[in-house]
Amino acid sequence: MNIRVHPDWWKKIFDEVYLLTDARSVCDQEITRREVDIICELLPIQPEHKILDLCGGHGRHSLELCKRGFDECTLVDYSQNLIDHATKQAEENSYPVRFIKADARDSGLSAEFFDHVIIMGNSLGYISAPEADKDILSEAHRMLRSGGWLLADITNGEIVKKTFTPSAWHEIGDDMVVCRQRELHGERLHAREMVISKQQGIIRDETYAVRLYEPHEIELLLEDVGFKNVRVHTDFLSHQAEGDYGFMNSRMIVSGHKQTI
Ligand SMILES: C[S@@+](CC[C@H](N)C(=O)[O-])C[C@H]1O[C@@H](n2cnc3c(N)ncnc32)[C@H](O)[C@@H]1O
Repeated sequence: MNIRVHPDWWKKIFDEVYLLTDARSVCDQEITRREVDIICELLPIQPEHKILDLCGGHGRHSLELCKRGFDECTLVDYSQNLIDHATKQAEENSYPVRFIKADARDSGLSAEFFDHVIIMGNSLGYISAPEADKDILSEAHRMLRSGGWLLADITNGEIVKKTFTPSAWHEIGDDMVVCRQRELHGERLHAREMVISKQQGIIRDETYAVRLYEPHEIELLLEDVGFKNVRVHTDFLSHQAEGDYGFMNSRMIVSGHKQTI
């Protein structure tokens, strides 16, 4: 099989069905709490700091940060569906998160504004244009104040390539099955995802592709954009149980500092 992918797949796949297919990783509060523990461990974060949750999806990190008293959070994401989901949760909990629908390559936000930018849950590598991730990281660098920090959590491409499995499936409750087929095309992993409901039949049959980064490649990319003191932590495990969680299995955390001029 040759899995063909539409270049704009990332503009439409992040919807209510994604919140089901990836629920094991992105709708598990214990996992989110562990990820926010790591953010708080690695960044010199203070309650008054302005935090940008770039590609923040349905807001799980911003909401958890607010819960812990870090309530100067802004979330940028392209998916209106996920932003609506996050807005509802924020309103229900009276968390003052600012939500903005925008392309992370060009957010329209002010320069030198944020103390920290976080890019969590493997949100890089989606756009096929070769400079896209560099553009997202440059935009993050531009929005950070001097002395600010970036932290990104992405799939460890080295491990994904070594442990590559061409197919996987898992069940969601009694009704749904998620089946994934995968192919490696150089640095990009192509996948076809079919979601089948016993009651409703096929509710999703989509393809997507993600550019995989090895630790030294993401380190070089951050340095290229201007970040200093770049560190890659490859021992990051947010799932405690064994299993095939797709891109959420083997992750790494990269951090970089925007130096004071
Ligand atoms: C796998 S989800 C992770 C969401 C969230 N960070 C989390 O950990 O739950 C990836 C998110 O990145 C967003 N995204 C990807 N590329 C983007 C871009 N260029 N601009 C804005 N959002 C983007 C998607 O809409 C999606 O919500």
